[in-house]
Amino acid sequence: MGLQTMSSNRLAEGRSFLKWAGGKTRYADKLVALAPAFEGRYFEPFMGSAALFFELGPSDASLSDANPELVICFQQVAHDPEKIMALLDGMPNNRNFYNELRAKSVEEMSDADRAARVIYLNKTGFRGLWRVNKKGQFNVPYGEYDRPYYNRKTLLAASEALRGVEIRHRDFTKALEEAQAGDWVYLDPPYIPLGGWADFKRYTPEQFGEEDQIRLAVAMSEAAERGVFVTMTNSETPLTRAIFKDFRVTRMATRRDINLKSEKRGSWDLVFTSYEIPKGQIADEEESLTLFD
Ligand SMILES: C[S@@+](CC[C@H](N)C(=O)[O-])C[C@H]1O[C@@H](n2cnc3c(N)ncnc32)[C@H](O)[C@@H]1O
Repeated sequence: MGLQTMSSNRLAEGRSFLKWAGGKTRYADKLVALAPAFEGRYFEPFMGSAALFFELGPSDASLSDANPELVICFQQVAHDPEKIMALLDGMPNNRNFYNELRAKSVEEMSDADRAARVIYLNKTGFRGLWRVNKKGQFNVPYGEYDRPYYNRKTLLAASEALRGVEIRHRDFTKALEEAQAGDWVYLDPPYIPLGGWADFKRYTPEQFGEEDQIRLAVAMSEAAERGVFVTMTNSETPLTRAIFKDFRVTRMATRRDINLKSEKRGSWDLVFTSYEIPKGQIADEEESLTLFD
């Protein structure tokens, strides 16, 4: 396991079947380069599209998220990808169908139908956002995109990668409590907004606020004290630096894809670690210059 996993990545594709707000597909290789030399289990407690998991391809892993629909989707893709693809093939890409499916009561649907619904909404909804109101109702408008809902090769490879992997609906604290010495936990929470709490934190009915970020810092410290390797990405703000001050920090160059006014803001993410990142593992010059600043 650990670093060996990266060289023996068993995935043909190495990428997710979803496009998630704040997803790390574009930076997954940079983040893998910052991985500790871990021997144990890989945890991703804010899995979203689980971009880093798919890049890494660990055989012993635990993925979890507070979004129950997303969790059911991953479980079903692992269990029966052919069924999910067949269901998607029967779904027309138009506003009426989108609005009907969006409004459907998920409790009355089968798990396979719920999984296909997540992929459909993710590929046809505005900018692939997952946003719910206080009652937990999905409220992203139709996106009018002319694109396939899935790539067969990617979905089958994702299913293969997920087989045998634990996929759970739970709060991030439970995963951090479960992790043991030698395990690696990669945390990618909803970010502290650059200028006020923005829309993209509304992934779940329970919003992720400052007290959750503090809860996260405490749970990370407790795990790190037990010998768990901890890595967390977040926004570059003074509040972020203050809340996670007990960890080593490095900057990673990024481009925010959710915020339309992105050009001037948010060109850096912070990466917090409980371990020292060997300098040789830093991917490019720009980052190595700002290591532990
Ligand atoms: C920034 S996204 C993660 C993106 C992911 N790294 C990727 O590559 O797609 C944050 C995720 O945290 C989840 N989340 C929000 N609050 C949570 C909580 N209290 N516990 C666990 N997951 C939570 C959201 O549902 C969302 O999927």
